[in-house]
Amino acid sequence: KHPIIFDTDPGVDDAQAIAIALRHPELELLGLTTTYGNVDVEVATRNALLLAQLAGRDDVPVAQGAASPLVKTRFPPPAHIHGTNGLGDIVLPEVQGTADPRSAAQFIVDTVNARPGEVTLVAVGPLGNLAAALQLDPTLIERVKQVVIMGGSIREGGNVTPVAEANMFNDPHAASRVLTAGWPLTLVGLDVTHRCVLTPAHMARVDASQGELERVLAGSYAFYRDFYQSFLGIDGCCPHDSCALAWLLKPELFTTARGHLTVITDGDAEGQTILAPEGRAFIATRWSRTPPVDVCLGVNGNAVSDWIADALS
Ligand code: BDR
Ligand code: CA
Repeated sequence: KHPIIFDTDPGVDDAQAIAIALRHPELELLGLTTTYGNVDVEVATRNALLLAQLAGRDDVPVAQGAASPLVKTRFPPPAHIHGTNGLGDIVLPEVQGTADPRSAAQFIVDTVNARPGEVTLVAVGPLGNLAAALQLDPTLIERVKQVVIMGGSIREGGNVTPVAEANMFNDPHAASRVLTAGWPLTLVGLDVTHRCVLTPAHMARVDASQGELERVLAGSYAFYRDFYQSFLGIDGCCPHDSCALAWLLKPELFTTARGHLTVITDGDAEGQTILAPEGRAFIATRWSRTPPVDVCLGVNGNAVSDWIADALS
């Protein structure tokens, strides 16, 4: 079993990934930490608590984190993609539980330090919580097992600007700190998530009559699908955040490259992620100074999409 902390801004595709994290037999979900991004952080926390409750997993702690980016002015939540409630504007049941009293960053520090070398951080929203955890305890990089991040794009282009992926664009300064901190890290970005499609046929297997969690997953999917029709011209949607879990449990379905990442923090290209492949000696050495990381560049999209659909149903 992989002990994980799942850092998230739910969000329709986050909700799918959370459902997998809560139920998959090979994952031990130690906690959900929340950030603004697809929605305000209070809404993200409410959704995380609700999803855990609907899965019968209210034993899983939820700790609230970043309400805004480290430096830049906050970009408004994309209500046309995720709905104003983050879950496709479907009617939601009442939440019973409450959040952990600790901040997300403190929760991450405490949990990793209690199990040195064991915990994987999976982050699928803007990276303010991981940046804050590093600030609280810079030695964390020695005790985290690995960090898996959904975000960025090397060759695919962006989804918020022509060059920037949403999680990087929402807090490029935090992303820069986290991606260059020197911990074992894999980036799962648009280069692979745009090759994966959760189709209506896949979602038909998630039977909304089975229970409230299935109703939320099916209902929010129906809303999210419209964006992918207009943005990518596909029938279905990209299960970005679940791809990070697919990488963790099924790495053989991906190909990676190792190299040095730079996140552009200002100007028209803010949020762009640039990879300098390891071993290539660029004349301008600033492009190869950051500690090396692994970046997913290729994927068996059909196999990953089928794996996600299986894990959801
Ligand atoms: C990422 O941005 C968010 O909107 C999604 O939840 C995902 O984490 C995709 O660019
Ligand atoms: Ca997300």
